Amino acid sequence: MNSELEPIILDSKPRSQKITGNVIFAASVAVIGSSFQFGYNTGVINAPELIIEQFYNQTYLIRYHKYISATNLKVLWALTVSIFAVGGMFGSFLAGYMANYFGRRKSLLINNLFAIVGVLLMTTSKLAGSYEMIILGRFVIGINCGLNTGLAPLYLTEIAPIEYRGMFGTLNQMGVVTALLLSQILGLPQVLGNSVLWPILFAVPALFGFYQVFGLKFCVDSPSYLFGKGMHENGIEALVWLRGTGDIEEDIQNIRSEQSNNSETFGFVQLIKNRCLFQPLIVAIVMQCSQQLSGINAVFYYSTSIFVAAGVPVVMSTYITVGMGVANVVMTTISVSLIEKVGRRTLHLIGLGGMFFCAVGLVFSLTLGIQWVSAVAVILFVIFFQTGPGSIPWFITAELFDEAARPTAISIAGLVNWTGNFIVGIAYPPLALAIHGYTFIIFAILLFIFFVFTYFKVPETKGKTIHEISLYFDPSAVKS
Ligand code: GLC
Repeated sequence: MNSELEPIILDSKPRSQKITGNVIFAASVAVIGSSFQFGYNTGVINAPELIIEQFYNQTYLIRYHKYISATNLKVLWALTVSIFAVGGMFGSFLAGYMANYFGRRKSLLINNLFAIVGVLLMTTSKLAGSYEMIILGRFVIGINCGLNTGLAPLYLTEIAPIEYRGMFGTLNQMGVVTALLLSQILGLPQVLGNSVLWPILFAVPALFGFYQVFGLKFCVDSPSYLFGKGMHENGIEALVWLRGTGDIEEDIQNIRSEQSNNSETFGFVQLIKNRCLFQPLIVAIVMQCSQQLSGINAVFYYSTSIFVAAGVPVVMSTYITVGMGVANVVMTTISVSLIEKVGRRTLHLIGLGGMFFCAVGLVFSLTLGIQWVSAVAVILFVIFFQTGPGSIPWFITAELFDEAARPTAISIAGLVNWTGNFIVGIAYPPLALAIHGYTFIIFAILLFIFFVFTYFKVPETKGKTIHEISLYFDPSAVKS
């Protein structure tokens, strides 16, 4: 790997592509149909936990004439929460292969089948008197969300004008956090999170699906996919539609430069055996680990109990959790505008560094029981997360690999992310029970390691073509 921190810049000519109405529309179709789906389903089961547990209990009573034991109920609930990530692992692993086989646009379309099945299972579970349908539905919607986390950033970065690629990639996270907050608000007892209306909570994602299925009719597929498959005329048409002009020479050159490197498609084994691709693969994997093993979902899944453990009253804890959701959206909005100015590497470093200090602060405040410091530390933890680690890992994989290796790399990176998500979700409660506030020491140590790795090994990809980026990893591959 190039030992210098600054990557080589081969082509520094000014670029001047515009953001058109069409590209914004196509982006909205990916964000509302996919990123919303992921964020909403991540957050939707938090607030109504007790209400849905009651339904589990009632159903059990009707069937077996006795209540479920408290322990079994918790186990069933943990399964309901975490089976989503198991579905996510399957879906994310399929994403690259589907994107390559069917194309980005058609894959997004097909993925809505999983959304429909998942939504139907969960929404009708009460009517059918079956909690198994919620668990199965969570698994199926997990597959949909896993696919979405691969497909949406891929489509967004491939339709974006090169100097706005990071901004478009960040839009994915923008969608995730907006829908996460929406699910937190809709899940309040005064809205839909009550014993009568909770099935409707699970029906809301159908709206995201409708928008996407309808919107995709008007959208083009990703130009680099079309060119990669030899469909040059369609690729040109797609570029003209996205850029709103016939002046698309620069885009075509960029796509050609990434395709001239490799003509074949890389599978998993080829990817890890290839010296030039192995290094960016490690970067993509560690970036995903840095997102999930930072402990962010320990906060998102269990914030209320973290605050309660610090001595904050339950009602206050709920408010702080909603405050956290708001901070999440605000900071992501800010990072959308920062990403192309400050760059990915710097924002990721600031995020990880800030999270490290917050994690250390949390260890002290939780163990010493200083409530207000815990609340401030958690909110700052989320703010630093959204500075970079929240969005960058999702789209940087698409920036690090050319068309031939990108789908497989996206599958691997997605699988790593969802596995990390699953591990933290499952491991945090027993860890917190055993070592209490000290759990965040583990996250602090990991954050420190990820910071050092990012500092030494992650190149800045802002505004660079894939060809320029690949030179960072393999300077000997200089081409004209
Ligand atoms: C990122 C993570 C996701 C997390 C979310 C919180 O999208 O991938 O796991 O829940 O950020 O904002």
